[in-house]
Amino acid sequence: MANNPVALITGASRGIGRGIALELAKVGYDLIVNFAGNADGARATAVECVAVAQAAGKSIRAEICQGDVGKATDRERLITFTREQVARLDLLVNNAGITSIGRADLLDATEENFDRLMAVNLKGPYFLSQLAAKWMIKLTNSQTSTLQTIPGGYRPKIIFISSISGYAVSTNRGDYCMAKAALGMMTKLYATRLADHGINVFEVCPGLIASDMTAPVKEKYDRLIADGLSPIRRWGTPEDVGRAVTAIALDYLPFSTGETINVDGGFHVRRL
Ligand SMILES: NC(=O)c1ccc[n+]([C@@H]2O[C@H](COP(=O)([O-])OP(=O)(O)OC[C@H]3O[C@@H](n4cnc5c(N)ncnc54)[C@H](OP(=O)(O)O)[C@@H]3O)[C@@H](O)[C@H]2O)c1
Repeated sequence: MANNPVALITGASRGIGRGIALELAKVGYDLIVNFAGNADGARATAVECVAVAQAAGKSIRAEICQGDVGKATDRERLITFTREQVARLDLLVNNAGITSIGRADLLDATEENFDRLMAVNLKGPYFLSQLAAKWMIKLTNSQTSTLQTIPGGYRPKIIFISSISGYAVSTNRGDYCMAKAALGMMTKLYATRLADHGINVFEVCPGLIASDMTAPVKEKYDRLIADGLSPIRRWGTPEDVGRAVTAIALDYLPFSTGETINVDGGFHVRRL
């Protein structure tokens, strides 16, 4: 079993997931870097994580694992891979997600695209968290486990990466908005169900973050940000989200669960 705590991050080959992996590496987490199709990106994330950890005086492992979170067999494989490689799981970060396919107007949206988005952005985190939670509960209960010797105890956590789109309407991304809104309830459900097992659950809600996902709408949002869309007038970075996740991972919020951490430059603040 790994001596370091272990984080499984879905969709960590690029963007926000990669930013989360790099920040967790710096504080000594071993990492399972999941990806859907971009193996080169995942390998690059893993290599970089080991390097930034080393620069911070930590020795970590980072393994890559292909898996489409929208498919049940792939979700099983991700957990099995983690069990076989490092035999423990301290943090699941449900980050993988896709934007609305084709960004079609509400009146033109197709069922096929709706089903695909819901499989990846909603069903994926729901059932991957179910698998992870069952394993975390087993690890918590295992008397022989070396986990019992961890100072402060084994304190596993689950994080859902939602979005400001969970409450801010975009009529050309209805499926995306609804899936992200549902992650807020998913956080509360798992937080309530898992509290007695000592597993804290959080929603991390990013605003506009510079990544491949937002690259096609960069110019539109450059203008809106300059005009004061959020009180902090800049794009967010994957590192911004990674640092919020790391605060949770380091157990700096031990008496909080079912909580939403906004990483959005203050976008959520209603203003007159
Ligand atoms: N960027 C933003 O402004 C923003 C704001 C709020 C919330 N978010 C959310 O943050 C998360 C990450 O967004 P991002 O901007 O980093 O996106 P991104 O740059 O498009 O990266 C998406 C990541 O998810 C992976 N992925 C896609 N479909 C997958 C699947 N079916 N199974 C497993 N992995 C899959 C990709 O893997 P491959 O490289 O292998 O394709 C990639 O690593 C998403 O849930 C997104 O909704 C983003």
